[in-house]
Amino acid sequence: MRDKRDHYYWEAKKKGYRSRAAFKLLQMNKEFRLIRKGDVVLDLGATPGGWSQVAVELGAFVVAVDINPMEKLEGVTFVQGDITDENIIEVLLDISESYDVVMSDASPKITGIWTIDHLRSIDLARASFGIAKAVLRNGGNFLVKVFQGEEIQNFYNELKPCFAFKKFHSPKASRKSSAEIYFIGKGFKR
Ligand SMILES: C[S@@+](CC[C@H](N)C(=O)[O-])C[C@H]1O[C@@H](n2cnc3c(N)ncnc32)[C@H](O)[C@@H]1O
Repeated sequence: MRDKRDHYYWEAKKKGYRSRAAFKLLQMNKEFRLIRKGDVVLDLGATPGGWSQVAVELGAFVVAVDINPMEKLEGVTFVQGDITDENIIEVLLDISESYDVVMSDASPKITGIWTIDHLRSIDLARASFGIAKAVLRNGGNFLVKVFQGEEIQNFYNELKPCFAFKKFHSPKASRKSSAEIYFIGKGFKR
């Protein structure tokens, strides 16, 4: 019901995107220029594939990971796996020796209990950052979703030294009621 009254839900249907989330990436990419033509992009928590679709449209080669299956998408190499399992890093480096962009829209199953959802989302975001540190090229870009809460400042302190440009951002296409916010890091340095 909520989706059907939603502008971005209908826009996604109209434009053939698999998720309304596609518009969040489009908006953030427009503002922060994260993905360029020819980039190798890693999409973590990718199913159903809206972000992957956008990255392919921008001319990127995409490797997508999700714990759940994803319907086939032209231009996307899909790996079904858990991003909190460190073994995934070797699999990803076998596919590409480095990545220009790592983006993660991974979300835990929502319980409705703010602190639990926040801490689980921080776990996924930290796992995404762990993967980024292992696979991102120097100078590369990182985008990750987190649900707001008390751990966010500590997480920011971990991210901060690794990026030349860093910012939290809430795209217009995020629902007003949502706790989600995106960390954008550009110019990765080891
Ligand atoms: C909000 S959806 C992503 C939507 C996607 N960006 C799009 O535009 O279609 C979040 C995804 O995170 C995935 N996810 C959650 N925990 C995960 C984990 N531990 N490993 C991999 N994927 C996970 C879920 O299966 C879900 O598909």
